[in-house]
Amino acid sequence: MSAGSSSEAPAAAGHAASAAGAGAAPGRAGPDPSAIVRLSTAYWDSQVLLTANRLRVFDALAAGPRSADEVAATLQLDARSTRLFLRACAGLGLLELEGERFRNAPAAAAFLVSTSPGHMGNVIRYSDQLYGAWGQLEQSLRAGRPALPAETYLGDDPARTRAFVVAMHERALGIARALVSVLDLSGRRALLDVGGGPGTYSVLLTERFPGLRSEVLELPGVAAVARELVAAAGAAERVSLRDGDYHTADFGQGKDVVLMSGMFHRESAADCRSLVERAVACLEPGGLLVVSDVFTDPGGALPTFAAMFGLNMMLTAPAGGVHADADVQGWMRECGLVDIRTAALPPPMPHRVVTGRKR
Ligand SMILES: C[S@@+](CC[C@H](N)C(=O)[O-])C[C@H]1O[C@@H](n2cnc3c(N)ncnc32)[C@H](O)[C@@H]1O
Repeated sequence: MSAGSSSEAPAAAGHAASAAGAGAAPGRAGPDPSAIVRLSTAYWDSQVLLTANRLRVFDALAAGPRSADEVAATLQLDARSTRLFLRACAGLGLLELEGERFRNAPAAAAFLVSTSPGHMGNVIRYSDQLYGAWGQLEQSLRAGRPALPAETYLGDDPARTRAFVVAMHERALGIARALVSVLDLSGRRALLDVGGGPGTYSVLLTERFPGLRSEVLELPGVAAVARELVAAAGAAERVSLRDGDYHTADFGQGKDVVLMSGMFHRESAADCRSLVERAVACLEPGGLLVVSDVFTDPGGALPTFAAMFGLNMMLTAPAGGVHADADVQGWMRECGLVDIRTAALPPPMPHRVVTGRKR
């Protein structure tokens, strides 16, 4: 972020407040400008978290409280700037002040320290990498193209691809426990995990449901990293990876579960409908199709996070966006599935899981 853009924002916020205020008669209730003022600088908050995570501020405080000078010396930062920055972190609730020293707030200690089992730093680093793409929202709206070519993080750039796969893995570890609680795969044997990314769901589902084996279908660059993660989890016997493009690959026969997680948001409605059709064709009678993703309510504007997620995908994938789970239910119905239902994962996870059974 440039210093120029930050220094102009307060003026914009003040302008929004006074413009709205000028429209309201004294003493009369009018529209409240607070949300507009807040939105005009909301990126400040994000940039503080993203930068603190990138600089590993939370690791620097993992052993206990330290002064701003000590943190600046450890991270090789300017002392005066670091003091302002750490105070802002404290203002946001990421750190706590103890006299002149700063310590991690409980949530930061649990989720932002790299040695913590709940570490989310790689997921946050992935958001950090997309910050520049969000700065090109206007260009993307004009051109109808993503600001970040998807190939960059799906194979072409090895470092970005690895960062993407590791972020998906970390996120999946957090979500999987909730997914397992809404998904009973007892007695199932053959899972096809389409666009299975790091393979984390396959690893955890085959662990949770003994007898289940999974084949993960993925693009070669992503599959190469996923193979390492699956092997590191000791799951190579239960989970295999197949290089392929899910638009053209043969889904095979005799599957009793097909999982399509986090991939509909990359695809048009027509392609999603076709993926559902091909999934149904490879299922045995009684087989289960599971489609998990961020979905909106009908109309597409709510939940707010889902509508914003649609923009994030528009910025990073050629057909990226967001669908309504009601649409997925409709495609499943058209393809002959029964017992169709949506389950929402518990907050803070924004995901909904749509399932349907083949007769
Ligand atoms: C958001 S990730 C979801 C990964 C995983 N299923 C999960 O839920 O964590 C979407 C995945 O789809 C994969 N993908 C995108 N286009 C694909 C294609 N044409 N064929 C196969 N995989 C694809 C990407 O590589 C990525 O791993």
